[in-house]
Amino acid sequence: MSRDLVDRLQPDARITVLTGAGVSAASGVPTFRGADGLWKNFRPETLATAEAFGRDPKLVWEWYAWRRFRIAACDPNAAHRVLADWSRRFKNFNLITQNVDGLHERAGTRNTICLHGSIWEVGCWQGCATAPRRWRDDTLSFAEIPPRCPHCRGPIRPGVVWFGETLDPTVVRQASKAAECDVFITVGTSAIVYPAAGFITAARHHGAYTVEINPETTPATSAVDLSLRGGAEMVLPLIDQQLVGV
Ligand code: APR
Repeated sequence: MSRDLVDRLQPDARITVLTGAGVSAASGVPTFRGADGLWKNFRPETLATAEAFGRDPKLVWEWYAWRRFRIAACDPNAAHRVLADWSRRFKNFNLITQNVDGLHERAGTRNTICLHGSIWEVGCWQGCATAPRRWRDDTLSFAEIPPRCPHCRGPIRPGVVWFGETLDPTVVRQASKAAECDVFITVGTSAIVYPAAGFITAARHHGAYTVEINPETTPATSAVDLSLRGGAEMVLPLIDQQLVGV
């Protein structure tokens, strides 16, 4: 394992990790663009946009209900566990995730910044005055699809960020702040979706030592200081084993 990286993972270092679907692959959660990725089998424009929901909320919910069901049967893997442990051991640790599966949270990770929302949250599609913007809902089999807002009886929508929607500005600000760090590790993302992929370059501009962990190359590979080829569930425990006294 690279000494360059291990030597920089000091107790008071500012460490930020960006994760994508690849970090949950070993847990059994499908990625989006991998060999059997979701976007190989489903068309994002018919399932993951506000227009698609407006057109056919039942179809969209059936797909999210299927994903919730599938994710509920998955557990955090070794990669999630190492990152959760680091979030307790390193005092300046932040995790920016594109994942909506909630596995980082289930592993007990602190300081998680969820860029794309959560599949375990919902919101009122009509944005009625009495409903909070988002609320937690772990229901696996809804009595009715689309499920109804308890305040206005209109449909509720999944609490994820869809293509064409803007991210929550507060969350983007938090992620931009976290990119001001000493070590920035991007794990399990194809680094093609923005603004998430942009934080890799931003961290570099802030002088961070940048690392990529991915079994495949991505557009970020040539931009980082160190590229580690392998699964996150293998590589992160190997790095962790090298950390002495942290
Ligand atoms: N460990 C690390 N990386 C892995 C592993 C693994 N075990 N298995 C696959 N990968 C890598 C793949 O090589 C790929 O580069 O994870 C990446 C997954 O890429 P995508 O499927 O494109 O997922 P992600 O980058 O998270 O997608 C970004 O796009 O569809 C939208 O909103 C959705 O958040 C998502 C965003």
